[in-house]
Amino acid sequence: QPIRLSDYRPPAYLVDDVHLTFDLQPNTTRVKARLTVRRNGDHSEPLAFNGERLKAVSVAIDGRVLGDGEYVIDAELLTIPAPPAAFTLETEVEIDPENNKALEGLYMSGGRFCTQCEAEGFRKITFWPDRPDVLSRFTVRIEADRRFRHLLANGNLVETGELPGGRHFAVWNDPFLKPCYLFALVAGELDVLEDKLVTKSGRTVDLRIYVDPGMAPRAAYAMDALKRSMTWDEEAYGREYDLDLFMIVAVRDFNFGAMENKGLNIFNSSLLLADPATATDVDYERIEAVVAHEYFHNWTGNRITCRDWFQLCLKEGLTVFREQGFCADMRGEAVQRIKAVKVLRMRQFSEDQGPLAHPVRPSSYMKIDNFYTATIYEKGSEVIGMLKTLIGADAFRKGMDLYFDRHDGEATTVEAFIQCFAEASGRDLGDFFAWYEQAGTPRITLSATYDEAARTLELVLTQATPPSNGQETKRPLPIPVTLGLLDHEGRTLAFERDGQAMDETVIVLDQPEVKVTLTGVDSLPVVSALRGFSAPVVMKTDAEPKERYVQLAADPDLFNRWEAGQDLAADLILSRAAGKPNEVGEERYAEAVGRALNDQASDNAFKALLLALPAETDLALMRSPVDPGALHDAREALRLRLALHLDAELRRLHTGLQDLGEFSPDAAGAGRRALRNAALELMAANPRNDVADIALGHFRAAVNMTDQIGGLNALMLIGGPAFEEALADFYARWKDEPLVIDKWFALQGRDPSETALGRILGLTAHPAFDQKNPNRLRALVSSFANFNPVRFHDPSGAGYRFLADQIIAVDGFNPMTAARLVDPLGGWRRLKPELGALMKAQLERIVAVEGLSKNVYELATRALN
Ligand code: ARG
Ligand code: ZN
Repeated sequence: QPIRLSDYRPPAYLVDDVHLTFDLQPNTTRVKARLTVRRNGDHSEPLAFNGERLKAVSVAIDGRVLGDGEYVIDAELLTIPAPPAAFTLETEVEIDPENNKALEGLYMSGGRFCTQCEAEGFRKITFWPDRPDVLSRFTVRIEADRRFRHLLANGNLVETGELPGGRHFAVWNDPFLKPCYLFALVAGELDVLEDKLVTKSGRTVDLRIYVDPGMAPRAAYAMDALKRSMTWDEEAYGREYDLDLFMIVAVRDFNFGAMENKGLNIFNSSLLLADPATATDVDYERIEAVVAHEYFHNWTGNRITCRDWFQLCLKEGLTVFREQGFCADMRGEAVQRIKAVKVLRMRQFSEDQGPLAHPVRPSSYMKIDNFYTATIYEKGSEVIGMLKTLIGADAFRKGMDLYFDRHDGEATTVEAFIQCFAEASGRDLGDFFAWYEQAGTPRITLSATYDEAARTLELVLTQATPPSNGQETKRPLPIPVTLGLLDHEGRTLAFERDGQAMDETVIVLDQPEVKVTLTGVDSLPVVSALRGFSAPVVMKTDAEPKERYVQLAADPDLFNRWEAGQDLAADLILSRAAGKPNEVGEERYAEAVGRALNDQASDNAFKALLLALPAETDLALMRSPVDPGALHDAREALRLRLALHLDAELRRLHTGLQDLGEFSPDAAGAGRRALRNAALELMAANPRNDVADIALGHFRAAVNMTDQIGGLNALMLIGGPAFEEALADFYARWKDEPLVIDKWFALQGRDPSETALGRILGLTAHPAFDQKNPNRLRALVSSFANFNPVRFHDPSGAGYRFLADQIIAVDGFNPMTAARLVDPLGGWRRLKPELGALMKAQLERIVAVEGLSKNVYELATRALN
């Protein structure tokens, strides 16, 4: 039964204060809860608190233990028919953390206790109104054997002490009101890295990162990122940290990336631990981003939270937006923007094109866990970026200030958030709200007509959003299109709009069609539109390739410079895949890329992005029916042409860009390694026999993980005995480092070579494969299903069957993680029919499984419909 936004009602009972006591035992943890409960409003409804998989020991009201007839406990609820208007509720339950393989609620990872409560995990810990609009003050007492040395919970430590029988305790109090999804507890043997930060108002905050014994040095980069995030939020948003202590704990078994629990963030260790020997530059970059993201949640999520889970984008879209602002300041705006748009297209645009399309604010769901999607996160962030573009940076900042001021301490809605910007900007943002309610990626067109005599440029823009499941007709959206002009030599061309002289303007396309005339245009222009990807849309223009080449060489908007190259490459690949190769065009493209590589003014990270052709998954979104094999072959053909044409240049880059001196994870060092490894990857397309030697030399000489993986990746693309040897060496060297062995699995999962499928399927029998650990599972299964289209879409259907096997098996103990594997099966309708039928059959097989979780059932049935 779906839950609907329109059915929202305020909670019938509120909990003002709670005192929890945990008597921690791996299989028989006792949780005592003392809640100060108050009826919310005037009604006589029964009390119904959530509770799942709890063995109830006792229930008492105001000190009196309730008898059998006075309450009911079923699989989901504790119901008390007629409680007083205000009372103390005491419950005691028993739970089994060690056998909790769903990794939700209280569970054990690596011999220690930890929790994950968002979205609805707290109900597996104690009876509670498990919804984000119940805000309470928490006091938590933890008792455990002394071998669980650190006892952590949210807020401030108020007391510790010894207990008989080799046990000890700690009491924590969180002075801030919070919803239960932000509750956290950790207990175990850990090493800690400590630091301090003084906030702008002079508060000294103790910073502690807790990790596996021996791993503290690997937390240094996360600590550095944390301090930079804290200072950045003070400067960019005026937001200061509010407790005397901020803790992060890394755990190996975690269903997703990380969690922003108040004062006690819990991280997947893959997003926290790094040193040059074991982590790649990509890992460093993600750690920086996720540490910032979780920290920024302290204001956007924790101090101000969501009224209900339909408002998830209120905290997630906004926090991604803040995170991206931080990353742009740390690592360069253009490069970060390009990377963000690549992720958006690969994950969100594909979601929008499939049966799982949903609005940024959905209006119904079965399992909220299924809505932690690219649409909520990435498109949710894009929507805020458009809001900023539409009202301007100053009004945006004022609106944020107003939001923090007005809603601090509340659980609120997207409407209330948008209202702050309407007031700050003095604009009616009524039509903007459609961005939250309408699913799908708008298609826009742009055509330009130049009148030389009048020196005018007439622009006609149109928009249309294709129908999606449950939304057959779509409204026009207010789409900000940032636009500038170049002449055919690549110089910026000034123009006038409404009599005002300018270099760049924002056209708001808010009708099905909008016409704008620019004046004072001195020569035939090249239109650079949708600069910085100013809206999450697919744009078609009437521009010719020669205009794209001008942009690729000289567009001052680096996003569009990169985009021009991608457009050219995509057209060439798609033509070839359709049986119409354009050899002349391919040569011309290779020459232009060569010139761009020699541009002294652009940085290495940018060049690395420029050198990479559009991914097969991106190309698959551009035409249907999709033939993944044909796309792969066509893309490989263009790679080969580039590799041959640019051979000398690639070798020069590969030799010239070696790291000299000490490793530094900063943007400049990472950019240099990215370009060098991109050059090697392209060289690997060249069958000249010394490429394998170069790749093997690169692998052997590597002194950091980025270059080791770069070498191994190139060897994989070349194939043959050198690859086999390197793969075995790599395993032998790193077998005791789980995060590195995850990379070993992930790399093989991505192997596109013709013989790879057998190896990939066989890897589930490898002794190091472990379905119960989400990192290891995803390393193999997700990397295969998401990043290896040519092998996943094997004509036999074996790739689909493999994915379904994994989903079914994992669903038996971890529904959340199983559900996150369903996505690649959603694309069957767009595939060529033979493949689509095979994929669909696997979805049908999944849906037929008896005892399937709601999580997987919801996604698989939606994928079928
Ligand atoms: N709030 C966390 C974050 O984005 C993610 C929680 C994911 N929870 C889930 N049930 N999928 O930082
Ligand atoms: Zn988040």
